[in-house]
Amino acid sequence: MSTIRKIGVMTSGGDSPGMNAAIRAVVRTATYHGIEVHGIRRGYQGMIDGDIYKMEAKDVSNIIQRGGTILKTARSKEFMTDEGMQKAYDNLQKHGIEGLVLIGGDGTFKGAVAFFKKYTIPAVGLPGTIDKDLAGTDFTIGFDTAVNTAVDAIDKIRDTAEAHDRLFIVEVMGRDAGYIALHSGLACGAEDILLPETVTNINDVLDRIDMDERRKKTVHILVVAEGDDFGGAKELQAKVQERFPMLDIRSAILGHIQRGGSPTCADRILASRLGYAAVDALCAGQTQVMAGIINGEIVYTPFEKAIKENVCLSKDMIDMIRVLAV
Ligand code: F6P
Repeated sequence: MSTIRKIGVMTSGGDSPGMNAAIRAVVRTATYHGIEVHGIRRGYQGMIDGDIYKMEAKDVSNIIQRGGTILKTARSKEFMTDEGMQKAYDNLQKHGIEGLVLIGGDGTFKGAVAFFKKYTIPAVGLPGTIDKDLAGTDFTIGFDTAVNTAVDAIDKIRDTAEAHDRLFIVEVMGRDAGYIALHSGLACGAEDILLPETVTNINDVLDRIDMDERRKKTVHILVVAEGDDFGGAKELQAKVQERFPMLDIRSAILGHIQRGGSPTCADRILASRLGYAAVDALCAGQTQVMAGIINGEIVYTPFEKAIKENVCLSKDMIDMIRVLAV
């Protein structure tokens, strides 16, 4: 049995659908083991501000299906300062917190790496981000929901694009990662997908549109990741219009709708499994690792290895883009 008696749980960085399911799993698993749980509001900022409260099993009732995060979230600049970290640590000590569950993305784990260079407190992370830009897990909490939201939107855009014979450019989120673009683009049968991980040769993109026009393709949808090296939907639209003045072109930036909504079944199960595993890991004395699932199995990856420098898109899937669009 664990010697840990009190843990803190927080969500940090951009919210992602399924974070609530993860909080629920952490609170319920800890409660089951007789461990007290304290919620830290607004991530690292809440640690600094001492915005910490005791949570009971009933506090996480009726949240498994809800998007957002009941603990709220923030991107704290103050936490990256020595003073901010000291205040955060002092507050954890003040509340007697002996272990932490950190739910967030790349920024959360970068923050954790910096913090744990200075301070010692057991901590386990959960990958909560729509961007899927973490190593050490096949999927991150929220990615499946975000991609399905994008797919739903692009399917709808396809209907109107076809009705008007328009070329559509759809920009999706992902910061500097192309997973949402690649997955939603393939799932929607996009003619082209522009990704930050590959160099975009705009002349090649335009030549492919030209070829499709000659072949009289009925619908033309381009999906562009917001972090693409050429630019976003607006830049692309201007360039395509310049070369093809006769085309009727529209663009849509899907934006934050990708971050909201009820989590899919896959995200709820992932979040529940990982929340449960995080508490187990803390009880077993693991620290500074992110819990993830690879090939169906729970794995623990040190924070510094989980951050996105170590992530790469599947080459097979990138190769499929052109083949499936012929
Ligand atoms: O990291 C999640 C994410 O939604 C990215 O895809 C996007 O670039 C960013 O957050 C947007 O951040 P904000 O909500 O602060 O504008």
